[in-house]
Amino acid sequence: KRVGIFVSGGGSNMRALVEDMQGDHPARPSVVLSNNERAGGIAWARTQGIATEVIDHRPYGADRASFEAAITDALAPYDLDIICLAGFMRVLTGGFVAPWQGRMLNIHPSLLPKYKGLNTHARALDAGDTEHGCTVHLVTPALDDGPILGQARIAIEPGDTPQTLAARVLVQEHRLYPATLRRFAAGNTTPLTL
Ligand code: GRF
Repeated sequence: KRVGIFVSGGGSNMRALVEDMQGDHPARPSVVLSNNERAGGIAWARTQGIATEVIDHRPYGADRASFEAAITDALAPYDLDIICLAGFMRVLTGGFVAPWQGRMLNIHPSLLPKYKGLNTHARALDAGDTEHGCTVHLVTPALDDGPILGQARIAIEPGDTPQTLAARVLVQEHRLYPATLRRFAAGNTTPLTL
């Protein structure tokens, strides 16, 4: 299976996915795409000899459809089977998602359906939750809302801040996303709980 990974920043989730696919695995990373030329994930992918594509969203302004058409054009030569969103910080419209529905995964730093959107760690703390975590789900046109493929849970500790929580959740993301992609690429959509 040919996988495209979308990043916007450091790409630590992308790195975890790429490293896991270096072993015996039903999928391989065909391209890493970003909206940000300066994304650390793009630089790292290039050191690994992985093809990269950068589509800066800024020239498109509010014209999401044209930005997404440029992504579609850039991806065409790779003939992808699966897209993994990994710290990709641009909302994709239903027009882009629809043809990929069922083949596009995302990782979100909360126990969905709780805390869709941003600032998930602060919201879990403000709510007084005792546990938190991350979720890998199939992407649908609604934000952070598709069928859940995997979840990892952590305890919220006294004195936790959004930063300490984010750091512990990120460690779990790096376990959960590779394990979930492995299963998904092998055709197994039974939800995984770590
Ligand atoms: C992190 O906040 C992570 O929780 C979320 O995207 C952000 C950056 O991740 N999934 P990455 O290091 O770029 O993969």
